[in-house]
Amino acid sequence: MTTMLVIGAGQMGGGIAQTAAAHGFEVYLTDALAEGLRRGVEGISSRLGKQVEKGRMASDERMAILERIHAVSQIEEVPEVDLAVEAVVEDEEQKRDLFRRLDAHFGPQTILASNTSSISITRLARVTSRPHQVIGMHFMNPVPVMTLVEVIRGELTDDATVATVLRYARNMGKTPVEAHDYPGFVANRILMPMINEAIFALGEGVADRDAIDTVMKLGMNHPMGPLTLADFIGLDTCLAILQVLHEGFGDPKYRPAPLLKKMVDAGLYGRKSGRGFYQY
Ligand code: CAA
Repeated sequence: MTTMLVIGAGQMGGGIAQTAAAHGFEVYLTDALAEGLRRGVEGISSRLGKQVEKGRMASDERMAILERIHAVSQIEEVPEVDLAVEAVVEDEEQKRDLFRRLDAHFGPQTILASNTSSISITRLARVTSRPHQVIGMHFMNPVPVMTLVEVIRGELTDDATVATVLRYARNMGKTPVEAHDYPGFVANRILMPMINEAIFALGEGVADRDAIDTVMKLGMNHPMGPLTLADFIGLDTCLAILQVLHEGFGDPKYRPAPLLKKMVDAGLYGRKSGRGFYQY
C-alpha cells in the first residue's frame, strides 16, 4: 500500500487526498490552519456523500475512503511515507520553507512533490538534501474529475523518481504527462495567456463578459468560458502564475492585464471570495 502526505487541505490538497484515498492510498492530510484542515476533511466527506446519494458509491465504500484519510496538525507527527505532495499557496518562499521541513523530517526514501502550477521545481529542490527525489505533480482542478497530472522533472530529478511518480499518478486513476521545468510548464504556459487575453479583451471593451465566455464555450467547445474559468481557478492564482511567466521568460507577451491586477488589489478573487467577474 502506498502512503502519502498531502500538505494543504484547500481545493487542490483536499481533492488530491480524496482521489488518492479513493484509489487505496493511505493518506495523511495536514494544513497550517486547524480551521482549514477541518473544512478540507468536511469537503471530502460531503463530496463523497454526494456520490453515495447519486448511487455511484456504496456508503461503506465512502466510510472506507474516509478511514484512509488521517488529519494531522503537524508534518512532524506523520510517520514515514512514500510520497509527500504539497499544495499550499503559490508562494515560493513558503514552499521553500516547507521543503526544508519535509527534507528534515522524512527519511531518504520519501519522494517530495509539489503541486505548484508554475514555480521552478529545480529551485525548490535546491533547498533539500535530495534534489534527485524532488518532482512536480501538477493536478488540475477539480482533482477528482480531471484526469491529467503534469509531471515535472527538475534539473536534477532522477529517472527512478520520475518512473515511480508516473506509476503513483496512474494508480490514482490519472493520466500523467511529462514536462520539463520551464515557467508555467505546459498547462499554464498555454492556458494563462488565453485567460489573460480574455481579460484584456474585456478591459478594452471588445465584448462584454458573457459574450467573451460564450464565444469560447460555443465556438471552441470549452466547458467553461475563460472568465468563468479564471474565477474558478482564483484571480490571485492567475496573477501569480502570469507573474512567474512574465519574469521567467522576460517576454512582454505575458504581462498581466491591468484589469486582472486591479481586481486582485480589490480582493475580487473569484469563486473563493464570492466575487470576481461573476457574483457567487
Ligand atoms: N469537486 C469534485 N467533483 C466535482 C467538482 C468539484 N469541485 N465540481 C464538479 N464535480 C463533479 C460533479 O460532481 C459531477 O460528477 P458526476 O458526473 O459524478 O455527477 C461532474 O463533476 C460534472 O459536474 P457538473 O455536472 O456539476 O458540472 P459540469 O458538467 O459543468 O462540469 C466541471 C464541471 C468538471 C468543473 C467542468 O465545467 C470543467 O471541466 N471545467 C473546466 C475545468 C478546468 O479547466 N480545470 C482546469 C483548471 S486549470 C488548473 O486546475 C491548473 C492550474 O494550475 C491553474
